[in-house]
Amino acid sequence: MMRIAHISDLHFGTHLPPLAETLCAEIRRMRPDLVALSGDLTQHARPREFAAAATFIRRLPDPVLVVPGNHDLPGWRPWRRFVHPWREWRRHISEDLESSVRGRDFIAIGVKTARRWGMHLDWSRGRINLDQLGRVVRLAGASEPDAVRILVAHHPFLLSDAVRKRGLVGRADEILDGLRSARIDLILGGHLHRSDAGTANGIVVAQAGTAISSRRKGEPNAYNRIQASSRQIRIEAMRWDGKRFAVAGSSSFQRSELGWAPAAHNLHSSPQFEPPSSNNGV
Ligand SMILES: [Fe+2]
Ligand SMILES: [Fe+2]
Repeated sequence: MMRIAHISDLHFGTHLPPLAETLCAEIRRMRPDLVALSGDLTQHARPREFAAAATFIRRLPDPVLVVPGNHDLPGWRPWRRFVHPWREWRRHISEDLESSVRGRDFIAIGVKTARRWGMHLDWSRGRINLDQLGRVVRLAGASEPDAVRILVAHHPFLLSDAVRKRGLVGRADEILDGLRSARIDLILGGHLHRSDAGTANGIVVAQAGTAISSRRKGEPNAYNRIQASSRQIRIEAMRWDGKRFAVAGSSSFQRSELGWAPAAHNLHSSPQFEPPSSNNGV
């Protein structure tokens, strides 16, 4: 089983330094096969926020796969948002907006879902186009048959009732069909600042809360610790308890010919994770 530390929505600029230090130390101790960072590294895409995020990422164990979120676009300078939307990202984080990591028994593919504008009022929403889907299908198709196939994207493919109004990533149904035919096993996302896990179109979807920022949406700071093979996936929600991140609940999934589904011992546990404590501990 490979192991993943899935962190999201760091929002440097509104981050809580003790949590950042603890998270970094926990992930270094865990020595995962992959750190997946699903976007919103900054609060306002300011240079100093990107610099702090870059310093944090450099201290994490390799390999780290990072994708941008909507907060990593400069909303505070319209000219820059439209003409040089990713200048600070490229300067501080990576030349690449969509990278991938190929491990011994997995492939992880990053997709940029954040957009500088949209045909709707809420520009925080994201989408994936058919060229991006084509790249994912090509990379996934070139991996070993038993490799765990992971997609990392900021915007969600799964919504619980509590966050229904936030909206799925654009074209979610169409894209999920394509991802399923590419036999993607696991989608990792953020944006909602709520931990969740479930299946969408036979693919396991894990959402992570905000790991270290004060922008909590009704649950403590959190990240996901994941173990995965091409047959089984187990997701543990790690929540801040005031001193450290502790296991708050877990979900297990199994793959059959029909795709991924909750494991039998999981079927009667709803919600997937324990209800969040009202004490954020910070
Ligand atoms: Fe966020
Ligand atoms: Fe976001």
